[in-house]
Amino acid sequence: MRDLFDKIYKDKGPLGKWAEQAEGYFVFPKLEGPISNRMKFRGKEVITWSINDYLGLANHPEVRKADAEAAAKYGSAYPMGARMMSGHTDLHEQLQNELAAFVNKEAAYLLNFGYQGMVSTIDALVSKDDVIVYDVDAHACIIDGVRLHLGQRFTYKHNDMESIEKNLDRATKVAEKTGGGILLISEGVFGMRGEQGRLKEIIELKKKYNFRFFVDDAHGFGTLGKTGAGAGEEQGVQDGIDVYFATFAKSMASTGAFIAADQEIINYLKYNLRSQMFAKSLQMVLVEGALKRLDMLRTMPELKNKLWENVNALQGGLKARGFDIGTTQSCVTPVYLQGSIPEAMALVKDLRENFGIFCSIVVYPVIPKGLILLRMIPTATHTMEDINETLNAFDAIRERLQNGTYKRLSAAVSAAMGE
Ligand SMILES: Cc1ncc(COP(=O)(O)O)c(C=O)c1O
Repeated sequence: MRDLFDKIYKDKGPLGKWAEQAEGYFVFPKLEGPISNRMKFRGKEVITWSINDYLGLANHPEVRKADAEAAAKYGSAYPMGARMMSGHTDLHEQLQNELAAFVNKEAAYLLNFGYQGMVSTIDALVSKDDVIVYDVDAHACIIDGVRLHLGQRFTYKHNDMESIEKNLDRATKVAEKTGGGILLISEGVFGMRGEQGRLKEIIELKKKYNFRFFVDDAHGFGTLGKTGAGAGEEQGVQDGIDVYFATFAKSMASTGAFIAADQEIINYLKYNLRSQMFAKSLQMVLVEGALKRLDMLRTMPELKNKLWENVNALQGGLKARGFDIGTTQSCVTPVYLQGSIPEAMALVKDLRENFGIFCSIVVYPVIPKGLILLRMIPTATHTMEDINETLNAFDAIRERLQNGTYKRLSAAVSAAMGE
């Protein structure tokens, strides 16, 4: 018999194996100073393109004031206990009602975290006779929720209608045998590449197939749609989404999340959502903070307008300079370049050290081998100066990538990695 930890000593996992080369720089970097368009990385100012503070609320003076006042009033503990037992308050209810109204649903229910809440909601919505159909590029919280499912599940090719139909056909056959139903799950916006889920076309399929539709709109909430109600509003199909989910971790610049649906569905989830039944309630400081933020989403359209001004300037500028930004239909701005992982590391280092640009980097196995994805998140706090500086820096790094500078700089790492 082996010691349980043997595998841990031998295999650190697909990312963990790079810890020595990457930690503190490419992974677990420390961004310091107030959350904004410019922060400090290793003591130097950088333009930050990797923070999901879409509307610039994280450090907005009104938000900071509301958070401080709520903390002074309630501390960080109140209320103690799970919602069902001793953690329920008028303000939790008020926030739920306001969130439901904002996303045009009858009712809403708060979750402590998006990730954990999504896992738990999937778990609560299906039983072993049901079938789940979901996008192969779904966020980890969807994948992990599906992992809890005891019945059948099918993935479809990313945003591919033909594959969706094929898998709905398969799911229908299974469900007819088991006597269960079908849950189809998509994201409103896919966070890596920025495409919107094909919500409208999926909802059209309800005419042909019997399924319920669950949408994770983490990146759409607050950024898309006329009022900011998200991808469903943007595509004019919010009514066709049976269960809507969004986190407070992005546009709301906080912690927490919610689901919204018909009253009867929320009533059921209230009594069956294990993440809320067996965990402490969302703290009041976060509830009051979320009420303030939601009020700002409702009453300050200028925040979303400024965000989109910046998105359009950044994405338009990149396209005009011939960069491949894929098929984004949201604020998420990917830039695809050709290169190896060692080249990508040299390039990112150059961007940070010499150009003062901080953005996330995504490489194989998340995207195909030989591609480098620089993922940028514009926010309402960025300025035209930030954007122009960044565009100029991107011109320079592309030139260096193409003329082999990064290949030379990374030769030693490449050799060590056997690339
Ligand atoms: C698509 C998506 N769903 C869910 C989550 C998880 O939300 P949270 O950070 O609130 O746990 C995230 C990341 O924050 C996300 O990008």
